[in-house]
Amino acid sequence: MELIDQTLLPGEFKVISCRTAEDVWDAIKVLRVRGAPAIGVAAAMGVVVAVQNVPDDEKAVLEAAARAADYLATSRPTAVNLFWALDRMRRTAERCRGSGGRAVKEALLAEATAIRDSDAAMCRAIGDHGQHLVKEGCGVLTHCNAGSLAAAEYGTALAPLYRAQELGRRFRVYVDETRPLLQGARLTMWELMRAGIDCTLICDNMAAAVMRQGKVDLVLVGADRIAANGDTANKIGTYGVAVLARHHGVPLYVAAPSSTFDLRLESGDEIPIEERGAEEVTHGFGRRTAPAGAKVYCPAFDVTPAELIAGIITERGLIQPVDRENIGRVLR
Ligand code: MRU
Repeated sequence: MELIDQTLLPGEFKVISCRTAEDVWDAIKVLRVRGAPAIGVAAAMGVVVAVQNVPDDEKAVLEAAARAADYLATSRPTAVNLFWALDRMRRTAERCRGSGGRAVKEALLAEATAIRDSDAAMCRAIGDHGQHLVKEGCGVLTHCNAGSLAAAEYGTALAPLYRAQELGRRFRVYVDETRPLLQGARLTMWELMRAGIDCTLICDNMAAAVMRQGKVDLVLVGADRIAANGDTANKIGTYGVAVLARHHGVPLYVAAPSSTFDLRLESGDEIPIEERGAEEVTHGFGRRTAPAGAKVYCPAFDVTPAELIAGIITERGLIQPVDRENIGRVLR
């Protein structure tokens, strides 16, 4: 299985091979592959990789698939797409019980490929449902990276931008750099510049001033997990952007496929939030940027309450206003 090593961007574009489930686990853990939908696709492919070199004995293949799915589920806790994709892989393996080891392997490959292809189709549909929000001449702010690198093809939050561009509209995008790992600066800027979209990088702490100057008409962000009431976990800092947007009267839309909803959770309080290593904060730019021994708190995500979200753009349509009833109606 091959993937772009996103930790090296924008300096180097390198495609790496993952030959074992451990390689895939590591790639997800250290964010070589990242973004909720992309993590799901990678994990599904990871199960395929894990069974590849197992002899065609059915019991051995089923055991290897189950082991790999359990193991890959421990790589990162917040993006529900990971667990959604692995559940699909587990169910596929179980459905094939009795048809032989080779058939199980083939079905797993077909399922992982279907997950990837349906992700691409969902992203395109999100673009179609959200493009009308990107008006001619408007200013858009985005946080983190929810584009092609984070999903298949169009991405989620960037999909309406790519579609609006295809439709000939002109607009400007402000890109939060997204500390501590700079997904906005490194990845979103790289993507948007390659696409020829007018984009301007700002530090996270500049967003308030840029909004006050009237430069932002719309905020578009992705999601890692959305609870039944619409509370949304996304990259740390999204909640702050949502508070700023509300203060300045700017609508904030979340773009996410149905695989990012976790309807078992009543509210965002139940979403597990990943905490990452202190060095992501103390060694900001490849060198020490805080005193040795500094105490650090490093949550990778925060939860934006539904009341701050103007709408959720899904592949099945726009959820607006964001409440339990509308979520149920659109997803059903
Ligand atoms: O830690 P990351 O880089 O995986 O966080 C990614 C995000 O928060 C994205 O906004 C989210 O996964 C949506 S990607 C389409």
